[in-house]
Amino acid sequence: MTSNVMQAVDIREVAVIGLGLMGSGIAELIARSGRGVAAIEINQSYLDQGMGRVRASLDRAVSRGRLTDTARDEILARILPTHDVATGVAGADLVIEAIPERIELKKTLFAQLDEACRADAILATNTSSLSVTEIAGGTRDPARVAGLHFFNPAPVMKLVEVISTVLTSPETTETLARLSRDLGKTPVAVTDRAGFIVNALLLPYLNHAVRLLETAQATREDIDKAATAGLGLPMGPLTLLDLIGLDTCLAVLETLQDEFGGTRYVHAPLLRKLCDARLFGRKSGRGFYDYQRTSAAADHELAPVPAEVALIGEQDGRLDELADQITAAGISVVPQPSEATGLVIVPADPRHRVLDAALAAGHPADVVGVHFTEAGDGKPGLAELVLPDVTAAGTAAKAAALAARIGLNAVISRDRPGFLIEALAYAQFNDAVRMFQDGYASPADIDTAMMLGCGYPRGPFRMLDEAGAANVVSVLDAMHAATGDPAFAPVPLLAEYATAGNRFGAAVRDLLP
Ligand code: 3HC
Repeated sequence: MTSNVMQAVDIREVAVIGLGLMGSGIAELIARSGRGVAAIEINQSYLDQGMGRVRASLDRAVSRGRLTDTARDEILARILPTHDVATGVAGADLVIEAIPERIELKKTLFAQLDEACRADAILATNTSSLSVTEIAGGTRDPARVAGLHFFNPAPVMKLVEVISTVLTSPETTETLARLSRDLGKTPVAVTDRAGFIVNALLLPYLNHAVRLLETAQATREDIDKAATAGLGLPMGPLTLLDLIGLDTCLAVLETLQDEFGGTRYVHAPLLRKLCDARLFGRKSGRGFYDYQRTSAAADHELAPVPAEVALIGEQDGRLDELADQITAAGISVVPQPSEATGLVIVPADPRHRVLDAALAAGHPADVVGVHFTEAGDGKPGLAELVLPDVTAAGTAAKAAALAARIGLNAVISRDRPGFLIEALAYAQFNDAVRMFQDGYASPADIDTAMMLGCGYPRGPFRMLDEAGAANVVSVLDAMHAATGDPAFAPVPLLAEYATAGNRFGAAVRDLLP
């Protein structure tokens, strides 16, 4: 970020407007830093709910031994709940708006803040994707208006996107960057573009996961497991959708769609249906998962494990290991299927259909493809068990039973290019390269943002480099060919890197000012 430290203003008193999931987290974070917070909501009921969230979060920190009772009480005493906007913002050095994602609501509020705030107060919006320029446009001094975008849970996630419009002054940006550092966060400076860095990459990926669920590519548990065990992410996409709130995710996708068009941001119909049913995720008790069910789901009875398994195809280290694991479990492994064979395993490649190998094996109904992924950083990987649509109904159950018996960490996917892990990850890598290609952010900033904003162990460019641009391009080509969806076509810059054999990690920063 630019260094204008001399001109940055000291922020002592903050008003947070809107005590939903994000606003309550932001209020807690700021009060923890020793600053006074006016916590503003439109009515007593919302105020009580928001303060309840703050209290619950602080109580959890106390119960984990992170905070003393006294410190918790002091933090709470620094938060002044009110539903009177004018009184709440009157003494504030900074106002952070975190109300619902509706542009008209925000513009009306900012016009009101213009009247009620001190003339030198900074006005920041925590919008997830709306135009900060449009929000600032109606105010009398847009130089003091910027975006300050936190990530859920705000007290935990280390990133803050500081968004400047063409009218934001450097002093405002620097003040917000300095405050963010003081709150223990890492600020990333971005200009005003829908979704900024993180949401523009995260939301299409989350939407893609909903599409995979909707098209029965896998169960919700397996889609989530592909991301956690396969990519090493802290949460699966459907769990993360539930955490963020499905209504928020839908709103961000709509903004992205308005700004960029194309197919990538068109929301999955299931996402809209869940929102229509008011199943917004954790905050409403149910989304993709049900958070109100207290009794544990009964274990499904596993199908019988076949006595003989055929393992066909060129063996490599991992397949040999699989053969050993199966044999050690007392199941005989043969190189060709016979009438006695219950399951036929073939190596699967995310660029090619397993179907062809299944037909070649002569027993298509019993075939399951296996594709191994390493999660990186020495973590154990995941096996994708891939089922062509011609396999018999019971084959998935037999494959799951075998995986359970031999202790194989596995997910089951339908036979579509990219399967689960590469489909989700490579499409996001393509989006990240598009963002870099557009000149919006550097690979280094994008990697930092995804690591600190979403807890990625490595950023998308680092993962892309590890996978190899040529490999990513060939899987994307296969996804594009199979679906006809232009969003999967490798962006020109990625194709160039693949042709040149270049890595993004090396000095690409130099290409941007
Ligand atoms: N509020 C406050 N603190 C919380 C919290 C919450 N809601 N949830 C978890 N924490 C704290 C815990 O108290 C714990 O603190 P401690 O280490 O001091 O004891 C710490 O976070 C770790 O919590 P847990 O051990 O319970 O759980 P995990 O290790 O599984 O981590 C997680 C939870 C931090 C949420 C992790 O799963 C993660 O990083 N998930 C990804 C979240 C993400 O991607 N967020 C960005 C969403 S996009 C967004 O918000 C933008 C918006 O515009 C849409």
